[in-house]
Amino acid sequence: MPERVILITGATGNLGRATARAFEAEGARLILVGSKPESLARAFPNLDQRHLPLAVDLTDAEATGRAITEAERQCGRIDAVCAVAGGFDMGEAVYEITPAAWDKMMKMNVWTMLNTVHAVVPGMIERKAGKIVTVGSSAALKGGARMGAYVSSKSTVMRLTESMSAELRGKGVNVNCVLPSTIDTPENRAAMPKADTEKWVKPEDLAAVIAFLCSDGAGAMHGALVPVTGLV
Ligand SMILES: NC(=O)c1ccc[n+]([C@@H]2O[C@H](COP(=O)([O-])OP(=O)(O)OC[C@H]3O[C@@H](n4cnc5c(N)ncnc54)[C@H](OP(=O)(O)O)[C@@H]3O)[C@@H](O)[C@H]2O)c1
Repeated sequence: MPERVILITGATGNLGRATARAFEAEGARLILVGSKPESLARAFPNLDQRHLPLAVDLTDAEATGRAITEAERQCGRIDAVCAVAGGFDMGEAVYEITPAAWDKMMKMNVWTMLNTVHAVVPGMIERKAGKIVTVGSSAALKGGARMGAYVSSKSTVMRLTESMSAELRGKGVNVNCVLPSTIDTPENRAAMPKADTEKWVKPEDLAAVIAFLCSDGAGAMHGALVPVTGLV
């Protein structure tokens, strides 16, 4: 069986790097997407022929389409997509949300995912095979004070995952979503120095769930929003 080709967005971040390590362990070919060549070089100093680094701003639909289509041509196909790119911001009460704050969250969390799937789904439909995993948030299962734009953007990711799954489950493509709580990252440790980090979900544990959702073992899972919350 030829090695699988896995595209990981947000590959340069905490969860993206852990996801890349999980697939490296199975010998997969990896298309690693980051926003800049420098962040890719920092995150992956030792690339070999199994890795294809791709620097692209995923909020730019045209550039994303071009970059992913070229990567797919080079690798022959894309078997699975882990749409990990995204981010967090908070602060404004809902009555204060500015267009800039709203657009920032929608671009970072929704458009990065949408532009990615625009580029990969046609090939998956053609091959009648594919796995897509998106990343929502357990915090977005309900509203939260001063997090309106963030939880709205992640809720949108979650609803779009369910919609995509309904569209693609009959076409051989599984679409599912993981819902992390606080991930144990250096940034979260610095922002919340008094928190009980033992309760947080480890990036590698989350990556293992993502890898499972990309496996044949998860072939009967469609449109699931899977909480992965450590001890919370
Ligand atoms: N951290 C948490 O506690 C937590 C909790 C719930 C959900 N999540 C979600 O889990 C995912 C991973 O979180 P993380 O902590 O690993 O994040 P992270 O370390 O901040 O990494 C974010 C990644 O997204 C990429 N990215 C952001 N905007 C992009 C753009 N316009 N174009 C291309 N790439 C872009 C970054 O690329 P560059 O570095 O190359 O710019 C980076 O690889 C995110 O979707 C996040 O919302 C995180």
